[in-house]
Amino acid sequence: MRIDVITIFPEYLAPLELSLIGKAAREGLIGVHRHDLRTWAHDRHRTVDDSPLGGGAGMVMKPGVWAEAFAAVIAAGREELGPDAQPLIVFPNPAGAVFAQATAREWSGRDWIVFACGRYEGIDERVYEFLADSGAEVALASLGDYVLNGGEVAVLAITEAVVRLIPGVVGNAESLVEESHSSGLLEYPLYTRPASWEDPLGVVREAPEVLLSGNHAVIAAWRAEQSVQRTAERRPDLLGADGAAVEPRAL
Ligand code: ADE
Repeated sequence: MRIDVITIFPEYLAPLELSLIGKAAREGLIGVHRHDLRTWAHDRHRTVDDSPLGGGAGMVMKPGVWAEAFAAVIAAGREELGPDAQPLIVFPNPAGAVFAQATAREWSGRDWIVFACGRYEGIDERVYEFLADSGAEVALASLGDYVLNGGEVAVLAITEAVVRLIPGVVGNAESLVEESHSSGLLEYPLYTRPASWEDPLGVVREAPEVLLSGNHAVIAAWRAEQSVQRTAERRPDLLGADGAAVEPRAL
């Protein structure tokens, strides 16, 4: 998968070189390309923003610089992927659909994503209109119902959620199957050795007996029940009226 990120803070994306994502890049499973939006600003101050037409607080990102950035980044991507390649263009935006595991799964099958990070109050609306009229595939993705200073942190989160689902990125693929949200439910509680542990308060805490039974069917049933119980307690919104996951999905 090719990933391009257009931002005025390319160094903000440096963590993509670390850990599993960095390893995936070094192994050639993904290619990450960071671009400074100011590359396509031509005045002395490399200006990318201006005050809002009609007045109001803050600044708005100028359309021309974004149009040039998309043209250059898409041309570079097509050099690598072929002349017919079409990226999914993702704008992290608190006004977008909330990004969830189902979207991560869907995007992990893409061969090219271009992230466009807005800053300030946002990007001139005509950029979205221009992209739609160009036939581009565009998505607005929100991390949640709160406001960040820009899209960069959202790109880090979304990229990690997407890339770890690409086959070969996470060493033990089985660990993806049972984690929270993969089935539409939260994950069951986890325990490791020692089975009997004295905590700093002096309380001896036993791991559930069933986990020591060696009976895999019984353990699986216990875990399934714990998942439903935990989801009902913590995230009842994920359960339908019948207590089943609203959106059960196999990986
Ligand atoms: N940019 C600003 N706030 C955001 C959010 N909540 N999600 C994604 N991008 C954002």
